[in-house]
Amino acid sequence: MVLEVKLESKRLYGYSICLEVNIMDSYAIKVKNLAKNFGKVSALNGIDLNVPMGKVYGMLGPNAAGKSTTIRLLAGIIRGQATTAKILGIDLETGSEKIKRHIGYVAQHFALYPDLTAAENLTFYATLYGKNDAGHKRSLLIQYGLADFANRRAGSLSGGYKRRLSIACAMVHEPELILLDEPTAGIDPVTRNELWELFYELSVAGKTLFITTHYMEEAERCHYLAFLNRGNLVAEGSLQDIRSTLKNNKVFVCSLSYDPKVSKAVTALEGVLTVNQVGEHLRVVARDQSVATELKQAIIKTTSSTPLVQLAKPTIEDVFITLTKE
Ligand SMILES: Nc1ncnc2c1ncn2[C@@H]1O[C@H](COP(=O)(O)OP(=O)(O)O)[C@@H](O)[C@H]1O
Ligand SMILES: [Mg+2]
Repeated sequence: MVLEVKLESKRLYGYSICLEVNIMDSYAIKVKNLAKNFGKVSALNGIDLNVPMGKVYGMLGPNAAGKSTTIRLLAGIIRGQATTAKILGIDLETGSEKIKRHIGYVAQHFALYPDLTAAENLTFYATLYGKNDAGHKRSLLIQYGLADFANRRAGSLSGGYKRRLSIACAMVHEPELILLDEPTAGIDPVTRNELWELFYELSVAGKTLFITTHYMEEAERCHYLAFLNRGNLVAEGSLQDIRSTLKNNKVFVCSLSYDPKVSKAVTALEGVLTVNQVGEHLRVVARDQSVATELKQAIIKTTSSTPLVQLAKPTIEDVFITLTKE
């Protein structure tokens, strides 16, 4: 558990110093057993989340995993059930109005006024939060790279600039925690890099970012990760924690072009957990080292060639595929 220790006072008693400390929970989000049903559909099956302050926390999961439902619950937009739910130390059940003043929410789909200009959208949100100060709005336009587009109608901005404007509007009241639902979906790689730079800048400035994504390659960019699959939390922790989830398993990388016969033969081996072709390599997660001999034999038998088979460190993708298969 991460604890923040705040020094309240110190006094000298004889030869020892007495410190009075205030131990504060330094999680931006701490929920236990968060669950949500929509009629007969169980969207979230009781998940625990521990999001440290000032970090970029990613929730990775395929479509319908429950990512948007999680964000809407955390933002207090919809209600669910939880044993414990604290957002910035405030109880979600009783303090959701107070929480809303301290969080920013960026919806999955563009949710601003397309007929208003970028500056007008910002003014609209700034007025709602009582922050309609020209200097503040100007600095937000500059910070989010929107200064040259201030008078452009929001609906005519490119995908990347629409996201920037959505984030700027969500940050108008300077929240400590920002919930971003798939902020990089459908965005080209260059713009995605720029958005990630923006996320890191916010995190360095002390903001906590909770970001959902279905892009595996984005997982490695987060400080902390949660894997969600069909409403279940499959893993949670730092990248190192996540990688060490496969501690007893071994990852083999075989230098091989894609061959469906090889994939089939290897998948059928006892002790093989997952098989995944990545470019010119077949990545195999196996129960343990003992599978190596049979793995090589299966490949030789199918291809009549001797491939290079090496042990490798698990990637986040190896872990995700293996855990979600289980
Ligand atoms: N308002 C709703 N009414 C009924 N079912 C819903 C509603 N919102 C989400 N769901 C269902 O809950 C599950 C999780 O959805 P969602 O949280 O949107 O997943 P994700 O964002 O990971 O794609 C899906 O099966 C979805 O169809
Ligand atoms: Mg979604």
